[in-house]
Amino acid sequence: MPDPIVNHAIEEYLAGLVPPRSSVLQELEEHASTNHVPIVGPVEGNLLYLLARTNGARRVLELGTATGYSGLWLAAAVAPLHGRVTTLEMNRERAEFARANFARAGYAGMVEVILGDALKVLPSLAGPYDFIFNDLACSASQDDFALRLLDLCLPRLASGGLMVMDNAFAGSRILDANPVANVRGVLEYTRRVANHPDLETIVVPLRDGVVVSRKK
Ligand SMILES: C[S@@+](CC[C@H](N)C(=O)[O-])C[C@H]1O[C@@H](n2cnc3c(N)ncnc32)[C@H](O)[C@@H]1O
Repeated sequence: MPDPIVNHAIEEYLAGLVPPRSSVLQELEEHASTNHVPIVGPVEGNLLYLLARTNGARRVLELGTATGYSGLWLAAAVAPLHGRVTTLEMNRERAEFARANFARAGYAGMVEVILGDALKVLPSLAGPYDFIFNDLACSASQDDFALRLLDLCLPRLASGGLMVMDNAFAGSRILDANPVANVRGVLEYTRRVANHPDLETIVVPLRDGVVVSRKK
């Protein structure tokens, strides 16, 4: 898909600045490229790591595990504080592969992969979480999907905690004259968190756009 927002030469420059990764992360980058798994990649992974680390997050929730790539960055951020990562994935094969990857990286005891639909699992999670990473807002076709996730995540976010949503630009489709339903949902999510009285929000124009919100 043509992408008029992200400058790929700049992306490559930024990727060259990311510190050397573990063998598991490197393998998952290659696996994603070969198998077309939409992972966040090293630059955004490093951003997630730094946001969680500087926020002193201990309780992390991730929506959209895939192979565990971004979850590994988050696990590395909370490990020094003996934190925990809970990550949700509805695809059984991916959930099992991710569990194996967390174990290989030495995080089996601190990462829980829950198999299921985030909309159904989230109500059963008490929280609060210091850091919530939503990497599936664009996944469904309905226009209210991103907003339903927002309504479920916000009460579970601790005061001072960060809520991060990927794909704020929806592959540039937010610029369409008549965006499709899920893109309208992402646009409405971003508008709401930018104007929410309990949140402080910025959209970082990295990759496909990263919305970072802090709960007051
Ligand atoms: C963009 S990928 C996640 C990539 C991962 N965060 C990374 O960067 O390593 C989104 C994942 O969410 C899963 N997914 C989509 N809709 C879901 C839902 N409603 N509940 C749980 N998982 C879902 C997909 O199967 C897919 O593996």
